[in-house]
Amino acid sequence: LRPVGILGTGKYVPERILTNADLEKMVETNDEWIVTRTGMKERRIAAEDQATSDLAYHAALAAMEKAGVTADEIDLIIVSTVTPDTMFPSTACILQDKLGAKKAAAFDLSAACSGFIYGLATANNFITTGMYQKALVIGAECLSRITDYTDRNTCVLFGDGAGAVVLGVVPEGRGFKSFELGADGSGGELLTLSGGGSRLPATVETIEGKKHYIHMAGGEVFKFAVRTMGNAAEEALAKADMTKEDIDLLIPHQANIRIIQASINRLNLPEEKCMINLPKYANTSAASIPLALAEADEEGRLQEGDCVVLVGFGGGLTWGASVIVW
Ligand code: ACO
Repeated sequence: LRPVGILGTGKYVPERILTNADLEKMVETNDEWIVTRTGMKERRIAAEDQATSDLAYHAALAAMEKAGVTADEIDLIIVSTVTPDTMFPSTACILQDKLGAKKAAAFDLSAACSGFIYGLATANNFITTGMYQKALVIGAECLSRITDYTDRNTCVLFGDGAGAVVLGVVPEGRGFKSFELGADGSGGELLTLSGGGSRLPATVETIEGKKHYIHMAGGEVFKFAVRTMGNAAEEALAKADMTKEDIDLLIPHQANIRIIQASINRLNLPEEKCMINLPKYANTSAASIPLALAEADEEGRLQEGDCVVLVGFGGGLTWGASVIVW
């Protein structure tokens, strides 16, 4: 098996900013509650004419430029998202056309906020076996399109954005050292968007019943997240024959500052070894980890040989972690 790693990272966020002060005018909430309970200060909102593939496109171009890879070299495109442009064609196919990546196979992957790590593991397996040489893995979301801006329990939490990476063969000793993926479908009802599928096709009733928005049992998801993030990271480290002392940078899913804090405590990490950008972008689901990764890269926080741990959880329920030697 060939060593596979990240050749380049990229990100894109829409220009429009929705601040806590803006939300105060929309629902019964306040900046102090949002900051202390979630850590979030603002989030980005896609323009009316932007869909998920548009955000993904800009992030993908940035990652390809950083990797020095052109569209005709890409063999595989995976877009992890819960907010595809359309049910079909997939967002990955729409993106393949936009990029002109003519030889690439393309599909979407649905694992909610864990989707990016599921996507990395999938693409890694295609490349390590020699089937493909280069893959684009993208987490992209327009969560603003499935957020109920009359529900204060959820509307403060979510934002739009995209992060992308190019995967390819790397020198021996570097790249992905392990993946830990998991699911517990019995907790599926804790985090749902139930309308528009084959169980509950779109009707006037599903629209009036708000079935096309995110519904969440926040407290239960919070407990699941705190338990899972630490476990998944420790499992991934053990599989890589490493320990928490080896971590140079932890890049967690950006769902809530208190969930991240619990993970840092569990892993005994000083805060400077954890990437946190949720004050600016809030929770962007599948985009959150690649967005944080690309920003860490921009800030020069990823040095050759560093042990980088990605960890996330989300709807499904799902979770995932990966250990990378940068
Ligand atoms: N502003 C003011 N008050 C609010 C707001 C708000 N925006 N939202 C909720 N409240 C109120 C509640 O109504 C409740 O009031 P009550 O006691 O009178 O009923 C009170 O605040 C406390 O609510 P809790 O739910 O106990 O608040 P908690 O500290 O648990 O924080 C939160 C809620 C932030 C949602 C937290 O539970 C959380 O982060 N959960 C995890 C969410 C998550 O990560 N989801 C994403 C998963 S990833 C994916 O797949 C998209």
